[in-house]
Amino acid sequence: MRLAGKTALITGAARGIGLAFARAYLAEGAEVAIADINLAAAEKAAEALGPKAHAIALDVTRQESIDAGFAEAVAKMGKLDILVNNAALFSAAPIAEISRADYDKLFAVNVAGTLFCMQAAARHMIPRGEGAIINMASQAGRRGEGLVAVYCATKAAVISLTQSAGLNLIQHGINVNAIAPGVVDGEHWDGVDAFFARYEGKPLGQKKNEVGEAVPFGRMGTAEDLTGMAIFLATPEAKYIVAQCFGVDGGNWMA
Ligand SMILES: NC(=O)c1ccc[n+]([C@@H]2O[C@H](COP(=O)([O-])OP(=O)(O)OC[C@H]3O[C@@H](n4cnc5c(N)ncnc54)[C@H](O)[C@@H]3O)[C@@H](O)[C@H]2O)c1
Repeated sequence: MRLAGKTALITGAARGIGLAFARAYLAEGAEVAIADINLAAAEKAAEALGPKAHAIALDVTRQESIDAGFAEAVAKMGKLDILVNNAALFSAAPIAEISRADYDKLFAVNVAGTLFCMQAAARHMIPRGEGAIINMASQAGRRGEGLVAVYCATKAAVISLTQSAGLNLIQHGINVNAIAPGVVDGEHWDGVDAFFARYEGKPLGQKKNEVGEAVPFGRMGTAEDLTGMAIFLATPEAKYIVAQCFGVDGGNWMA
């Protein structure tokens, strides 16, 4: 029960990695706001997770939705100790085919969403003099990828925002750090696989097999492979860790 008495808001927690984090935080004794643009899915998830899970409608691209979502979460849980900026979109295309609309959409969710949710959390946490913010980056933010320019750039920006916010907020007792997963199986990667099927002419499922085999650990990650780091970064044991980005990727980026 390493998070007993703590409260957390996780964006994009209606499915995938965010949902696994919600489950893990609840198991450690926390109360959790499942904040997602898909309220129906968030409500279904919260219902399955029990009375300490709250579904919150939150679109990270709209300031009024961020303000209302954080206010609702604080009203329901009494305070906010932990924010996980997890909501994100992925896209892939060769440089010659990238559309401005796609660029704007990904930066709105992945970058502006991360920044302004950090800001909303910080405004609640600064008067209390403590808090933990965990941003979901990616190995994609640490290198370019030929077909994934926009997503890679958004995740590089998430790492940079983590560094700046970490340096700015630690004076208020707020630790900001990031997790950089490698390839994590789930609905998100089903979409990634479909993108590569289109652009590399591969049958569905082949890209997944290839990336899994290439991971030094020997397989794709699972959302549960990431929960240990997500819990640790939210505990007092991580108080001296500031503005860092941790790879949890089976050795994938290093290789
Ligand atoms: N799956 C991977 O292989 C992988 C690898 C590296 C990093 N990541 C990162 O981990 C995080 C979670 O990934 P995932 O695989 O669980 O993704 P996912 O696509 O399965 O889930 C994303 C969630 O975000 C929600 N969402 C989308 N737009 C939103 C918005 N505007 N406001 C609020 N919620 C919104 C969706 O409804 C969904 O529930 C993301 O930041 C992703 O970039 C994932």
